[in-house]
Amino acid sequence: SSNSKKVRIVCVGLDNSGKTTIIAHLKPKKAVTQEIVPTVGFNVEEFQKSGLYFTIFDMSGQGRYRNLWEHYYKDVGGIIFCIDSTDALRMCVAKDELEQMLQHQDLRSVPLLFFANKMDLPTAKQPVECVSLLELDRITDKPWHIAASNALTGEGIDAGIAWLADQMQ
Ligand code: GTP
Ligand code: MG
Repeated sequence: SSNSKKVRIVCVGLDNSGKTTIIAHLKPKKAVTQEIVPTVGFNVEEFQKSGLYFTIFDMSGQGRYRNLWEHYYKDVGGIIFCIDSTDALRMCVAKDELEQMLQHQDLRSVPLLFFANKMDLPTAKQPVECVSLLELDRITDKPWHIAASNALTGEGIDAGIAWLADQMQ
């Protein structure tokens, strides 16, 4: 309805982690028409879900675009940080990007939802292992939550978003 609360979300994480695929699951099915390709710059998606009117900034995770992320942090209601849980080699790169993000003034007390994505693959790390590798328990100034997800089927996504929606009430 027109009186849905408006929330602004920025979705970040390394390239190929599954951000655009996750967001495609959140959109009304009929809006998902195009094949998912690596994001250039960013895309803005707007839709209603669970009584909220979402504006999601789907950022590119490629190295050359990561400096764009911070320009969209102002006035956000929440951050989605997508982790490719199979990408052991780049977990430290994800950690570096996360640490930069955590220092940003505009994100003080903003809730952070992590998806440990690609849980369908055999080499996927469990959320508890991602917590340890990314040292998430050092985050004490913001509410955070991690959920395992499979963006190909949508498993785990709604539960994660429900947590975030709850934080933004
Ligand atoms: P950039 O836009 O480049 O930053 O990447 P992105 O994070 O938006 O990733 P994208 O959604 O484009 O997905 C990258 C690749 O991973 C695609 O081939 C997806 O089909 C695949 N993928 C995404 N989520 C999953 C998942 O949960 N499981 C599996 N097996 N593959 C996934
Ligand atoms: Mg993308």
